[in-house]
Amino acid sequence: MGEPRIEVVDDDVELARVGARSIADLVRADPEVTIVPATGETPLGTYAALADLHRDGDLPTEAVSVVQLDEYLGLMSEDRRSLFGWMDRTFLTPLEITGERVTRLPIDGDLDDACAAIDRTLATRGIDLAILGLGSNGHVGFNEPPVSAGAPTRVVHLTPPTVEANARYWGSAQDVPTEAVTLGMRPLLAAASVVVLVSGARKHEIVRRALEGPVGEDVPASFLRTAAGDVTVIVDRAAWEGL
Ligand code: GLP
Repeated sequence: MGEPRIEVVDDDVELARVGARSIADLVRADPEVTIVPATGETPLGTYAALADLHRDGDLPTEAVSVVQLDEYLGLMSEDRRSLFGWMDRTFLTPLEITGERVTRLPIDGDLDDACAAIDRTLATRGIDLAILGLGSNGHVGFNEPPVSAGAPTRVVHLTPPTVEANARYWGSAQDVPTEAVTLGMRPLLAAASVVVLVSGARKHEIVRRALEGPVGEDVPASFLRTAAGDVTVIVDRAAWEGL
């Protein structure tokens, strides 16, 4: 554990390049990694750059496992708007990570039981690399504030700022599901490596609060400063300087 390493990059293009390089280095060092890849817009360029490396034979993924970070509840499992669908299109399919190497979060049945089972598995097998984004309210995954550092994988209620931020994908805020399931702070904070990708001036205030404000439940991402492993925050100048 130590202070997060902060890498300020010029723009989206450099974010994708530096993000992909950091992630690819970790995968090359240990091809059997278990990765948790965030959905959202910020990592798209990074995932595309990883896919290019993979296509060129520079990124082995046959032994990579993936655990889903977060998911809406109330959708059919094949719904394109599900976060699984998003992860599948942007990460799993381009990197050819399939089948039993992918752990999907539960969306029906006894959710509490299934979430507890995931945490039990992660407690022994562990997350090697969590690739996270930053919600406008400081959430990581769907760990909405207020949240404790010990919060387990669980069902959560989405807060109005998150519903608002995701309305663009759903047509209107009324259509955004308000229930979700997320990996908890506890398994995320135990990851061996965390790479956080942050882009755009609208993230300026929250990225500064997360990295420079008090560590606490009001800004879930601030707990990354207490994470067990290495934390790298790759942030573009717009977000860092608030330009
Ligand atoms: C979403 C997701 C997160 C994501 C975050 C930031 O609500 N649940 O996993 O990292 O918000 O998204 P974006 O990168 O689009 O700003």
